[in-house]
Amino acid sequence: MSLFLTTTGNATLIFCVKDMPLNLSPSELAQLASQDFKGKPNQIGLIYASNGALERVYFGKSDDLYALGRLPAALPAGVYELTGATTLDALAFAGNQYKFSRYKKDTSTARVLKVSQSVYDEAAVLLAGIVLARDLVNTPANDMTPAALESVSRETLLPHGAVIKVTKGEDLLTENFPLIYHVGKASSVAPRLIDVTWGRSDAPKVTIVGKGVCFDTGGLNIKPDSGMLLMKKDMGGAATALALAHMIMTLKLDVRLRLLIPAVENAIAGNAFRPSDIYPSRKGLTVEIGNTDAEGRLVLADALTLADDDAPDLLIDFATLTGAARVALGPDIPPFYTHDDGLASELQAISFKINDPVWRMPLWKAYDSSMDGKISDLSSTGSLPFAGSITAGHFLNRFVTKTKSYVHFDIFAHVPVASPGRTFGGELQAARACLALIQSKFC
Ligand code: BES
Ligand code: MN
Ligand code: MN
Repeated sequence: MSLFLTTTGNATLIFCVKDMPLNLSPSELAQLASQDFKGKPNQIGLIYASNGALERVYFGKSDDLYALGRLPAALPAGVYELTGATTLDALAFAGNQYKFSRYKKDTSTARVLKVSQSVYDEAAVLLAGIVLARDLVNTPANDMTPAALESVSRETLLPHGAVIKVTKGEDLLTENFPLIYHVGKASSVAPRLIDVTWGRSDAPKVTIVGKGVCFDTGGLNIKPDSGMLLMKKDMGGAATALALAHMIMTLKLDVRLRLLIPAVENAIAGNAFRPSDIYPSRKGLTVEIGNTDAEGRLVLADALTLADDDAPDLLIDFATLTGAARVALGPDIPPFYTHDDGLASELQAISFKINDPVWRMPLWKAYDSSMDGKISDLSSTGSLPFAGSITAGHFLNRFVTKTKSYVHFDIFAHVPVASPGRTFGGELQAARACLALIQSKFC
């Protein structure tokens, strides 16, 4: 994907303007007039030389941070330069041209943006993360199984010198990850916990957990057809976590990183877990299954318990956890939950600045007790028929007791309608914001 960026060579100039450009010849003004270009926000005006070659591009300034994502579709193949182009410009321009080409050949030609070396270096790392996450989420579940997620983790992170330990199948029971086991046991591909460590052992400890439900049928509480169609993306949290880890390692940030991915398929078979079943968790709390479609919080619970043992300086989880989060905030802006107010305001500010928006929602105290079980310590779904994303956050927080700074992201990981810089399908959400947060806190 750095394919769409360069630092050298001849380039056609792009000029961002607030109004009609001044000092143009009558024929140039006529060209712009024929394109109805008036220098209004996001308008694009092309000036051709008499030999028919594209000579210059005018683009109406706008406050959309990803505005440059509008350009590739309007320009012929070639190399372009905008003086002062930022990393966000580069992400928009390049990210807009992403194609998922694993199953259908991409025949399009590249529009390349010429940028400074420092923008190139930063954008290339971020784009690698964006492309990794989009590719993983877009890959259907027949090729993105728990085993495939393990392979991708190895291929992506071993070259950085990471150490990977995988616990799978019945070993999950002997190693005390009962919830991961019981959610994933009905699949023909064994459930597993992927545990990655990297970095200097006495550096600040950052642990990232990602929900890796490779397909979510809903289990015995089977999803209706429309709800199931998108569920290859239910490993979006794992994809996000992997992408963030990859970016941190590429940048060689001085942190001790741990990445935990519970990878399972929520499948249907004779041995599938059932509504009303009661299972122990790694933490020792018993959980009654209210609905087998609330599977993500279960696999996260065991992974978070393990993460909490280290009491890391920062613990983050990413999960496509609830439909309720989409009802509240829609697909573009994932909610996050934390008890750490300082962290929340820092994260909130950074996320808007770098156009990776997230929004704090409250761990409203009064809703917490609704997750208590009647004949078990916890109910997986609780008794409150509202605030589904918040109560899921409370459920997860029952398993994090030692870590001071814990943030849970309820992400969508998917773009339902393309917009400049954001293509349809899998998307990296909240990871760039977390990267910037980690850099500002620890580096
Ligand atoms: N993976 C889904 C959540 C989801 C649905 C994310 C649609 C994005 C789009 C999750 O496992 C789930 O099914 N959650 C249920 C929980 C309910 C049964 C308590 C939900 O949100 O309906
Ligand atoms: Mn589900
Ligand atoms: Mn799910």
